[in-house]
Amino acid sequence: MGRSRPIVAIDGPAGAGKSTVAKRLADVLGYVLVDTGAMYRAVALAAQRVGIGWDEAEPVGELARQLVARSALGFERDPERGVRVRLDGADVTDAIRAPEIGMGASTVSAHKAVRDALLAMQRQAGRSGGVVLEGRDIGTVVFPEADAKFFLTARPEVRARRRFDELTARGAKVSFEQTLDEVRQRDEQDTTRAVAPLRQAPDATLVDSSEIGIEEAVARMAERVRAGASG
Ligand code: DC
Repeated sequence: MGRSRPIVAIDGPAGAGKSTVAKRLADVLGYVLVDTGAMYRAVALAAQRVGIGWDEAEPVGELARQLVARSALGFERDPERGVRVRLDGADVTDAIRAPEIGMGASTVSAHKAVRDALLAMQRQAGRSGGVVLEGRDIGTVVFPEADAKFFLTARPEVRARRRFDELTARGAKVSFEQTLDEVRQRDEQDTTRAVAPLRQAPDATLVDSSEIGIEEAVARMAERVRAGASG
């Protein structure tokens, strides 16, 4: 019945280094990694492929429900990519990382029906513990009872710089200004939406990766999880 291993929640805005930190932390602790952003991205991609507009709340909600019901979304751990994502069996790990799909994910994630459809899947993935979940509302909505909660952030310019480097390394043709713009736009969209907006849980530890860097952030977080787990 009970769960003996901790649930670790990492929330924060786009580009704070969350994916990297979550992946490393899961490795260091030997925990399962659940990337909930990838789930919203997969729904956005699926909608685009069948020609449903991201802002069409009802059809997108219905699509999300169907995807979950027929187990069309698959997630496996990948040592390099963190999580490998499948949509109806096809590998969409790269496709869901396109900047436009990031915006789409932000848009579809504002619909309550979409969030409800994915919530059960997220709870199912984390319930036995020994898990690191990353997203926007893990500590506030998905697992308010998580054993360790972190809110990972960084200044917008720092986040935009990281995202820009990441995108250009992958060959994307974007400008820094455009990336910074997108970061701000996504922050605005994610923090002002009515359902499960991005915010720090009152009991979450704030980690600002602007100054300390990713490695240091991971080390501090691992220490905190271990301290909590033993006492
Ligand atoms: O972390 P990410 O960039 O892959 O997330 C993509 C979008 O999904 C993000 O803009 C907001 C949404 N999201 C969410 O609303 N709730 C989550 N738990 C995770 C992501």
